[in-house]
Amino acid sequence: MESFLKRAKEIARKIEEADKIVIVSHIDADGITSGSIAARALQRLNKDFRIDFVKQLDERKIEELKDENPDLVWFTDLGSGMVHLMYGLDAVITDHHVPSSLNVIVPKKARKNLTSFFEELSKSDVLQLNPHIFNRNGAVDISGAGTTYLVARELDRRNVDLSPLAIVGAIGDMQDTENLRLTGTNRVILKEAKEHNYVDFFLDARFFGRETKPVYKMLQFSTDPLLPTLTGDEKRCIAFLKELGIPLKRDRWRRWIDLTKEEKKLILSELVKLILRMGYGYEMAKRLIGEVYILKNEERGTPLRDAKEFATLLNACGRYNKAFIGYQVCLGDRDEYYKKALNMLNHHRRNLVDGVNFVKEIGIVKREFLQYFHAGENINENIVGIVASMILTEEGNRELPIIAFANSEDGNIKVSARAPRALVDKGLNLSIIMREASAEVGGYGGGHNIAAGASIPKGKEDEFLDIVENMIKKQLE
Ligand code: C5P
Ligand code: C5P
Ligand code: C5P
Ligand code: ZN
Repeated sequence: MESFLKRAKEIARKIEEADKIVIVSHIDADGITSGSIAARALQRLNKDFRIDFVKQLDERKIEELKDENPDLVWFTDLGSGMVHLMYGLDAVITDHHVPSSLNVIVPKKARKNLTSFFEELSKSDVLQLNPHIFNRNGAVDISGAGTTYLVARELDRRNVDLSPLAIVGAIGDMQDTENLRLTGTNRVILKEAKEHNYVDFFLDARFFGRETKPVYKMLQFSTDPLLPTLTGDEKRCIAFLKELGIPLKRDRWRRWIDLTKEEKKLILSELVKLILRMGYGYEMAKRLIGEVYILKNEERGTPLRDAKEFATLLNACGRYNKAFIGYQVCLGDRDEYYKKALNMLNHHRRNLVDGVNFVKEIGIVKREFLQYFHAGENINENIVGIVASMILTEEGNRELPIIAFANSEDGNIKVSARAPRALVDKGLNLSIIMREASAEVGGYGGGHNIAAGASIPKGKEDEFLDIVENMIKKQLE
């Protein structure tokens, strides 16, 4: 931890020396919270700065920044994978993605000329705060928002009021899903946030929507864990609660936060029984309960109160190229931009429902080792992965990995792949499959074992499916 914090201090000193600064951040929840933390910290220093949110950091963007030539560029939640292109740019990075310096896979563009890759890399004197460099697991130890927060806190102790955003960023990147709670450096930040009374945490149901969704809807949409016979089936969710004698409605639909302790206990113990009875196993049942994170200064019953819902609100902005709206909410707007963000959230939900209905209309094609659908123009490429996750939860679709295609605005085909957890436990790794199969048809891809994506040339879908199916088969053998 000491050397980690020392690096944070070094970065803080570099930031203090610069006058004109450009923040560049990612468009997802972790990226938006990261950018907001950096921006607030610079506001407090009265720095002249601007912020850019990008979907991906590519060579062109870096060249643009070199041309602009500010005193300093502060990359947050991205940048580490691109350090080999940053020679000549005054920059600092607070990120948690695998750095190119450590990447065993040299980026494709650099492969042609390995020597020059390492030369460029060694020339670059960009300071990075990145858990990978300190032998920590960047997927769970700390997020982009967390690393950015550690620097902000070195700039000004008042920035401890940004700790809730660091928690939202970590939750947005699902850093709690493996251990069912935040661990490592995230936990250090969490404790600080709690000591200052900004955040509270306790064990509760891990469902999405505890603060805002009617309980039956919360169950219906539960994907982690899947609720056998309930997930995806509104009528059964309602019947389940009625049988337990839980009133669905008082003066309004009752949410999880409206239930009594006894009611919650009853529901949870019945869900455990259900999961075990249906043979889903103890590991699955365990996922019902975990740590939840509450932002104490936010109003109860709003999507800002719960870290998971806050993160979703930000994703609902970022996925539609409206990261700036989420950014304003992070900076404290509860008026114009907050209303816009709530609209984005509704719009996002509607798009998801429309997307799922569309897929049901066209049908899913099942093959021996995978299932797939092609949404063409009908589902936005940025949400087709979420739709795929939702389809995967439905009765009858839970056995096979799902591959989803959608037309991309760049003329290529966007691929999203999602796997049932049970297959991942058996050795399936979609990240490797998306990377290698897409490369074979002239595209690119990557991601996580359970959720990955790719971009491939139009017309290559069938060939790609064959390659993917073969690879799935091999991994599961
Ligand atoms: O990008 P990722 O798949 O994490 O995004 C999850 C999305 O799924 C969120 O944006 C949220 O809108 C949606 N979701 C939901 N209900 C759930 C789980 C996810 O609406 N139970
Ligand atoms: O877009 P989607 O939600 O399907 O992305 C799932 C995961 O795959 C994400 O982590 C994303 O960063 C990754 N991905 C990738 N390369 C792509 C598309 C997605 O690494 N071309
Ligand atoms: O860009 P990338 O890392 O952020 O996106 C991660 C994607 O993978 C999200 O859409 C998220 O919902 C999905 N995911 C998932 N199950 C997990 C972890 C991530 O579906 N256990
Ligand atoms: Zn991140």
